[in-house]
Amino acid sequence: MSAIDQYLDSHATRFEEELCEFLRIPSVSADANHRPDMHRAADWVVDQFRRMGFATDVIATAGHPMVYAESPKVPGAPTALVYGHYDVQPVEPLDKWISPPFEPTRRDGNLYARGATDDKGQLFTHMKGVEAWVTVEGRLPVNLKFLIEGEEEVGSQALEKYLEEHADRLACDCVVISDGGQFAPGMPAINYGLRGISYFELRVTGPDRDLHSGSFGGSVTNPANALCKILTGLMDSQGRVTIPGFYDDVVPLTDRERSEYAALPFDEKEYFEQIGLKQGTGEVGYTALERRWARPTFDINGLWSGYQGDGAKTVLPATAGAKFSFRLVPDQDPAKIYEGLKQKIAELSPPGITTELLEFQGAPGVLVSLDSPYIEAAAKGIQHAFGRRPVFTREGGSIPIVTKFHQCLGAVVLLIGWGQDDDNTHSPNEKFALVDFHRGIKASAKLWEELAKC
Ligand code: BES
Ligand code: ZN
Repeated sequence: MSAIDQYLDSHATRFEEELCEFLRIPSVSADANHRPDMHRAADWVVDQFRRMGFATDVIATAGHPMVYAESPKVPGAPTALVYGHYDVQPVEPLDKWISPPFEPTRRDGNLYARGATDDKGQLFTHMKGVEAWVTVEGRLPVNLKFLIEGEEEVGSQALEKYLEEHADRLACDCVVISDGGQFAPGMPAINYGLRGISYFELRVTGPDRDLHSGSFGGSVTNPANALCKILTGLMDSQGRVTIPGFYDDVVPLTDRERSEYAALPFDEKEYFEQIGLKQGTGEVGYTALERRWARPTFDINGLWSGYQGDGAKTVLPATAGAKFSFRLVPDQDPAKIYEGLKQKIAELSPPGITTELLEFQGAPGVLVSLDSPYIEAAAKGIQHAFGRRPVFTREGGSIPIVTKFHQCLGAVVLLIGWGQDDDNTHSPNEKFALVDFHRGIKASAKLWEELAKC
């Protein structure tokens, strides 16, 4: 066993304790009440890097702070930029958590806490991979830059601006990101695609007050009915989005991709059972994997109107609203989707209401090149830790900044995630399997060695 691996094994428990410390900071980016916690989380990360001898600073932004850290120069060696995020999703509904979200708890070989996999735990694997090198060898074999933001879960606006203005500071040969998953437990993956996203809120207003549904029902447009009509009108019975031009720029799945996905050991029945369902649905003509990874879709994320209390109240609500989003695939353009959506909503709106459409984050989908020596270095690092070569997959989720990395830095992006499908990211009881945490660290430490040979 290498000295590095020995070091990792003998410090495994301390790494877990440190991760727990990080997870105790409730850095929820969407909630303004947590602003002080965002600073605490950024400072915690800074402290870790300073102790490893990295030149580190906190970058103040209009939103939440970012952390930048750079290792001492290794002349002639390649440079990797490691990206991650210290912000986490809101924890509601709180009563569904078995142990409190910000009190990390070990159960059945897993560590439960908000941010355990997404993304504090995964990001931390790379920090510990560095620590092993710095402690055992006195230095890293490659040049590393870490860029850690606090706004990934809310659209990465500050980072986007920073990247456009400071591409020179972030110059690198490849970008390393662990903010996704394995294909299956113990079956690691390198991702070559992420979906994009367009996120909206629609507010529907009708009469100037709530009305008696008996006195007024049937004579005026009910905003809740109107909202339902608009939302259901956005998707047809074949599971296809009805916005004009929506599919114009979709890059179709290749025959090769379809046969490769079909050859993966993916049991649809088991996949649906694991989330308490007997079957799934979606766009006709595609398998569940194809729909998740390579087809766009439409989902309502929140919906409100009318009476929500006990019993019945015969009310005709004055307003109704919804949050909804489209997952996009390459080469769909969020700006075009927005224009088409406005047109479609106007078409679907009955008389007697007004609508207001708010646009939140938009990010295009991305396909990264697999044709690079860095990909092979990542595969070797993964093989070392997981005992098998990674499979090549896409992900249904989005990491908005990835497209920008590609555009602004011209670097190869290595998407190597250690999570699992049942990690409950964005849900109650988020967890990270401790075995994946430690395999992730081991893969990371090996990756630095392999990148040095590129
Ligand atoms: N870690 C996820 C992205 C992800 C999800 C990768 C699933 C692989 C599988 C990331 O933190 C995330 O959730 N991103 C948001 C971005 C959005 C808020 C703009 C997402 O995909 O919903
Ligand atoms: Zn994430």
